[in-house]
Amino acid sequence: MPTTLVTASVEEAAAVLRRGGTVAFPTETVYGLGASALDAEAVAAVFRAKGRPADNPLIVHFGDAEAVGTVADVTPLGARLLLAFAPGPLSLVLPSRGVLPEAVTAGLDTVAVRVPAHPTARALLQAVGLPVVAPSANRSGRPSPTTWEAALSDLDGLADAVLQGPPTDVGLESTVVDATGRTAVVLRPGAVSLEAIEAVAPGASLLPPLGADAPARSPGLRHRHYAPTARVRLVERLTEADPGAAAIGLAAPPAGYGLVEVVPDVETYARRLFAFFREADAAGLRRIDAQTVPEAGLGRALMDRLRRAAES
Ligand code: TXA
Ligand code: MG
Repeated sequence: MPTTLVTASVEEAAAVLRRGGTVAFPTETVYGLGASALDAEAVAAVFRAKGRPADNPLIVHFGDAEAVGTVADVTPLGARLLLAFAPGPLSLVLPSRGVLPEAVTAGLDTVAVRVPAHPTARALLQAVGLPVVAPSANRSGRPSPTTWEAALSDLDGLADAVLQGPPTDVGLESTVVDATGRTAVVLRPGAVSLEAIEAVAPGASLLPPLGADAPARSPGLRHRHYAPTARVRLVERLTEADPGAAAIGLAAPPAGYGLVEVVPDVETYARRLFAFFREADAAGLRRIDAQTVPEAGLGRALMDRLRRAAES
């Protein structure tokens, strides 16, 4: 198995990307698996490393919002959202200019673009000076990695390099917004909340996560996601303590769970969720009881990921 370079050097990571390699790197949402968006071979290597279905398109990342126009037609709505939220945890679906290898967009006539705010991600993207595809740096179907160690554990021997950084701040993937039309449609809720989007784009709506046309609008929604090996159960209150189960939530559970995390607020819950899933699996627990939160702000994104994990 080829060895994966583990480095804290942005320059070293940028060199790997420039020569067509794959690099896991930190963003403020989750770690991404980057490759040059202009290099069809490099893009193919990303799909291979993740075991990702070819019909699931990738998000293209930029160091600066001005560069988005090189691959996408920036609609008036898109321009307004970029002005308000870039750099940040937002991805925009825009009409594609058709300049990228077809595999990036899975043959769609739209392309998803993102300008991350994380200083390491920005430094890397600016050093590379190319658009960089970056799906979450997990094997397909696993929870997104929020630490470089989690990215390495999924992609050791499969990615060319892992760029070390701190645990990610948000912990959930970016908000994906369809900005091809006149009103914004949130395809995947995230840290840029529906409320925040509505404030700059009146009439914004949320695609019902499990609605009939969800798979057609965002191909990724078709696929199994975010799931630990343990069975996830959503509960309003944590009551059924079991040494073979883990519990996470805002309120302290009764004694007797095999692993417990009490989080002080929804932000911490989001930041810790995927790492907690991985810790419960590493401890060999069969079940994870996760306490539900109100569906507002970041709570909407958290409940979306919890529901998907509970369904698989
Ligand atoms: O926070 C994030 O977005 C992370 C970091 C690394 O930037 N990336 C990430 O990528 O979560 P990924 O590939 O795991 O999720 C991308 C999502 C998928 O659900 C995909 O279907 C959707 O974005 N997507 C990509 N291009 C699209 C397009 N043209 N139209 C609709 N949905 C698209
Ligand atoms: Mg992903």
